[in-house]
Amino acid sequence: MTIASIQTGSPRRGELRSASPAIRADLPVEPDVTGFYEGTTGSIQYVVADPLTRKAAVIDPVLDFDPRSGSTRTTSADRLLKHIENNGLTLEWILDTHPHADHLSAAGYLKDITGAATGIGERVTEVQRLWKQIYNLPDTVPTDGSQWDHLFADGERSKIGEMEARVLLSPGHTLASVTYVIGNAAFVHDTLFMPDSGTARADFPGGDARQLWRSIQRILQLPNETRLFTGHDYRPDRRPARWEGTVALQKANNPHLQNSDEANFVKLRTERDRSLPMPSLILPALQVNLAGGRLPAPEADGRRYLKIPLDAFPDASWGDLV
Ligand SMILES: [Fe+2]
Repeated sequence: MTIASIQTGSPRRGELRSASPAIRADLPVEPDVTGFYEGTTGSIQYVVADPLTRKAAVIDPVLDFDPRSGSTRTTSADRLLKHIENNGLTLEWILDTHPHADHLSAAGYLKDITGAATGIGERVTEVQRLWKQIYNLPDTVPTDGSQWDHLFADGERSKIGEMEARVLLSPGHTLASVTYVIGNAAFVHDTLFMPDSGTARADFPGGDARQLWRSIQRILQLPNETRLFTGHDYRPDRRPARWEGTVALQKANNPHLQNSDEANFVKLRTERDRSLPMPSLILPALQVNLAGGRLPAPEADGRRYLKIPLDAFPDASWGDLV
């Protein structure tokens, strides 16, 4: 293997055993990333694997939920388990980038099956406190993040197999959002979408368009070739779902970043968000997701119930209905 091919090819560590240690140390790890598109909510779930050790993490798994019937299913999460099994992977981590408002997290389900550790950004405790009031939850419900095995601080480093995972605090969409940077891949979830879809909304409780701009700038400081994996794709003009870009691609093509600055972005984002109705699953989802992806405990009849606060958001847009 020549040095030129190493520099341009971004090869995996497993292919570099004959390279000199000095060269290897400079190369970014290239994790195996498999995205699983969940079409109902436009979410992408990821399995990120260390090609060398076959240890893996799941990022942002979805628990299927039909609000019309109140049914839950594990079809989407089971796809991840199948992939893990078929590829001989060992699941070490079940990670969420933030408490999602558009889908229920399958973190609790996957933990029960695999025993892998769950993790989320440490500021999730602030979101827990915020929504505890909105749901009027009893004092006994903890808001210390104890529903997860680990809470990640900004800049914290950890391992998936032998790959280093670094956490970048990326608030704006929510105040607890984080980006997981794993080798040459970054999981940016609701910050940047694919360039033809712009950026994520920043109007949920705890959201902040200015913070989102700053988080995006931080992500764009990663090397240009860094692979960026978004958490949603809504398939504009019904094109096939896509979820992988690069820092360079976003800089060149994302219209929300072109000829923009913080003030312009905040104006654009705020005006756009004002017209958006709340996500249809926000009230079912957050009470589950702030409990670490755990459904409420069954009541005396053995059935689980979700709690929906009425008129808690009187100023929310009804979208096309009004
Ligand atoms: Fe989100």
